[in-house]
Parts: sequence; C-alpha cells; structure tokens
Amino acid sequence: MNLRQSLPPVPLSAALLLTACNTPAAATPDIAVAHGALRSEAGMVVSAYPDASRAGAETLRSGGNAVDAAIATGFALAVTHPVAGNIGGGGFMVIRFPDGRSTVVDFREKAPLRAHPEMFLGEDGEYSSRIHHRSHLAVGVPGTVAGFALAHEKYGASEWAGLVEPAVALARDGFEVSERLAGSLAGRLEAFRDYPATFAQFFREGEPYAPGDILVQADLAATLQRIRDRGRDGFYAGETARLLAEEMERGGGWITEEDLARYRAVERKPVRGTYRGYDIISMAPPSSGGTALVQMLNVLEGFDLAAMGANTPAHAHHLVEAMRRAFRDRALFLADPDFADVPVERLTSKAYADEIRGTIEAHAASPSSPSDVAAGSGWESDETTHYSVVDAGGMAVSVTYTLEGGYGSYITVPGAGFLLNNEMGDFNARPGLTDERGLIGTEPNLARPEQRMLSSMTPTILARDGGLVAVIGSPGGRTIINTVLQIVVNVADFGMSPTEAVTSRRLHHQWLPNVARLEEGYMSEADAYVLAAMGHEIAWIRRQGIAHCIFVDPDTGMPVGVPDPRDSDGTAAGY
Ligand code: DON
Repeated sequence: MNLRQSLPPVPLSAALLLTACNTPAAATPDIAVAHGALRSEAGMVVSAYPDASRAGAETLRSGGNAVDAAIATGFALAVTHPVAGNIGGGGFMVIRFPDGRSTVVDFREKAPLRAHPEMFLGEDGEYSSRIHHRSHLAVGVPGTVAGFALAHEKYGASEWAGLVEPAVALARDGFEVSERLAGSLAGRLEAFRDYPATFAQFFREGEPYAPGDILVQADLAATLQRIRDRGRDGFYAGETARLLAEEMERGGGWITEEDLARYRAVERKPVRGTYRGYDIISMAPPSSGGTALVQMLNVLEGFDLAAMGANTPAHAHHLVEAMRRAFRDRALFLADPDFADVPVERLTSKAYADEIRGTIEAHAASPSSPSDVAAGSGWESDETTHYSVVDAGGMAVSVTYTLEGGYGSYITVPGAGFLLNNEMGDFNARPGLTDERGLIGTEPNLARPEQRMLSSMTPTILARDGGLVAVIGSPGGRTIINTVLQIVVNVADFGMSPTEAVTSRRLHHQWLPNVARLEEGYMSEADAYVLAAMGHEIAWIRRQGIAHCIFVDPDTGMPVGVPDPRDSDGTAAGY
C-alpha cells in the first residue's frame, strides 16, 4: 500500500535549504528555511508562509522564547496569510514549558452583548445560512490580539514592540506573493467585489496579483503600528475599535466599542491524557478538540492497531467507530465552559472509554442518528491555520487560530485593513435543529451574550518520560480533531517517522453525516470494498488538513520541522 501516493517525498536533508538569510556574522547562526522537513540545532518554527516562519525564527535567534516567536509568527501570518492568519479572528495557544508544566491561552471570539439563540433566523422566522455565516452578524468579537498580549504578559521574554514590528514591516513595505496566494486571491475576484475595502486591499487596480508581485497593505500596517505601540489597546480601544464599530453599524452588525473593551482572553487548564506511554496536552473547552482527541485515544488504546496495520480496513473501521462516538458526545456536551457544565473529566476518563469500547463491534458499523441527541452547524470550511514553535530551551508552543471560513466574513474594516471573522457560524444554528446533514441544535452551544462558540481546533503537544516529542495541529473544521488523532496514532502505534506521520493519508467521520471520508490514496479500492461491506458509507476527498508540525529527534534532542506538503507554502525555519 502506498500511503503517500501523489504527495512528494519530503527528505530530511540539509540540501533542502531554500535560502539562508542574513549574512553570517561571527556568532549569529544562519536561519535555514525549507518547504520540506528541516532539522535545526536550536529553535524551529513551522507555519503556513515563509516570511512568517522566518519572523518567528528570527525572534528565537535574537533571544526570544517560543511564546515570543509564536506571537511574531502569528502577527506576520495576519499579513502574509490573509485566508486564515488574522488579528480579526481568534484561536488557541498551548504552551509546554521545559520543566513539563503546561498551560493554554484561550483567545476564542465571543458573541456580542446583543446576541441570542435565535439571531440566525431571517424575517420569515426560518434559519438563514447567510446570516449565520456571511453577514455582519456572523462576526464574533475578535480575540487574537488579546490572546497574544496575555501570552506575552505572562510568558514572553522579549519586548512586545519587537514582536509586532516584523508584521508592520511586511504590511508597510510589502511581501512577495506566492503562487498559492496569488491563486487563492484570484479565485475571490468576483466574491470580493461586494466588499469594496477587501477588494481594494487584495487587488491592484482591480487586477489580481501575480506570483512574485509585492503586496503592500498600508491600512493594516497602520493598525499593526497601533498594536505595536499600545498593546491590546491598539486594537480594543481608540482608532481601531472605532473603525471596527463603525463598520458594524454600517453593515447591521452588533459589535460595539463596549464589546471590544470588554473582551478578555483567558488562561485555562489544558486537557490532558495518556496514550501508550505518551502524554497528550491539548486544548480545553471552548474547543472540543482536546476532549474529543483524548476520548478517542482512550478508546483506541484498547485495540491492537499495530497488529491491524496502518490504513487497513480494520484500522479504518476502529477509527471511524471511535470518531462516531466522540462526535456524538461533542454535540451533546461540548461548549464554552463559562456557560455550560462540560463533563471533561468523565469524557476523557479511561473508564468511560472502556464503556464505549464495549459498544464497538469488530466488523460492523454502528448507526448514527440525530435522535441520539435530540442535535449544530454543518458548514465548516478548510481555512484555519496551525503553526508550531520549539525554542532552544525546549519550550514548545502549538497555535491554531482562524477567521473560520477562508478570508472569514470577507469584510475588511475600512481604514484598518484587516479581515473580520465569521466565527458566529460555529454556534448552533437554532435551538432544536439537528439533522442528518450534520446541523446540530443542542442547547449548550447556542449563541448567548459574551459566550464563546464551540471550536474543533486542536493545538496539541505530545511528550513522553518528561521530554517533548512533538507539536501538532491542523486546520480543517471538524476534521482537525481526526487529523491530530491520526498523527498521534501514526507515531505511537505504527512507529512512523515524522514525515510519514504527517504525510500519511487520513480519514474523517463526524457522526453526522454518517459517511467515512477518505483521502484519495488512503487505501486500495479492494480494501475500501471490505470497509464498505462492514456497513460504512465511503466518500473520497482530495485532502484533509494541513498539519505543520515539529518533532523532536529522540537521538539528538533536536527539533525537526515538518511542514505538511498538502500546502506548498508551508515552511520550516530554524537555526
Ligand atoms: O473553530 C473551529 O473549529 C472552526 N471555526 C475552524 C474552521 C476551520 O478550521 C476552517 N479551516 N480550516
């Protein structure tokens, strides 16, 4: 079986260095930048755009720690990776310190004060997907700048201004547009026409940028300068807040300057678990990611996946059955813990996994039905971004953040140059509406004032015997959790190399709709026939997730960056 059919091999080799930046000064090591796997001697950043990875690696090289580098990378992505990098969205940061302690920063967007569970119904009283996903009401109160400021205040080691400055320069002076970015923007030519500030920002005199062109974003540079100079107040107060609130008022949105002033990022306890001797450190609610990940791993621990073999019908069947059950529980129980009583301990306990395992048949698919809960949102796109950082001291940071859909709401704040999220789409559509397509209407994740919408983002860190093993995460809506799951299994059960663990084909099942979605090449047609004969409906998809990961080489203790080749812009930068 060829698990990596049609994905380019990603050799671990110094020959992959694309560029070595900065002329070597006496004691200043060069930064190596590669689209393939890369080993470094000290610090490593892997993200979705070369300039952003480089900004992070330069922060590390100049003495910043992994949190500093994560902040610099995140701001740079807000300039160079507009499809998902952001200051107008939100996300999660998981941090593991060199002594083994860990924490998470939750900077998920919140619903504005005026929000209520029926806010996505049209004038006719019917649910409106447009209001839910593509309107000013789809915008949540952004969290990214507050999250970075909190992480910096508590755990950063460098000056704040120096972490924002690379992004300011990239926006002000421009950066080189990659082929992938040029294609992505050109594909939005018609869609952005309805959003004049967005159209002006991403098209030059109405024409798409070509690969190699320089994209300058002057309004964004001015906003980033305010953030550089005033910290969180550069975003949540003053000029930026005023411009955002004015755009809301113009477009019928509900976010006010008061909503912005009240927004707080929070530090939470990570969700933790164990799997075959590995420690799992992942994101707590309001993400469902860590909880569902640990739940599924606990279930799978009782099966001999290694004996089944990677990507065999037996392996796929057991994955799907674990996923089906975890996603049903996700719909039933997972939401913002400040608003709902989320039973994380029970869901992540070994005892509960034993119970679940008892309901899985070895060779037959179980049913999925909306009546399992009396059931959310069926629409999640593939545009979020994950990046990983490890510093020379062994501190590790795993960040996944998003605008929700690609380019979020498509709304750029006029005069402020940044895109707003459409994260309100992650609240359940309307009370009681659960259906076969995957809409969920369960109570805990309905829109309420200042509640955070449920997420699937799963920034994760793997450790073993007190040592760092890997920093893992991915975009992909609900598929994120299953992407991270399979990378852990690939390492723990199948002993795959870092590159194999990331490139190996993946599958996805989310309870409803009751379909196993397999990446092309996941298994042979003959094996797929065996899987279908167990009662699984199968669909083939082109690609699942973009997992920009870092692994620690057990022999040398050095980080190995593995950009996922599913994204040609993915870049490892280290020194
Ligand atoms: O928080 C979530 O789970 C989603 N808003 C993430 C969206 C996403 O991953 C889209 N793309 N990759």
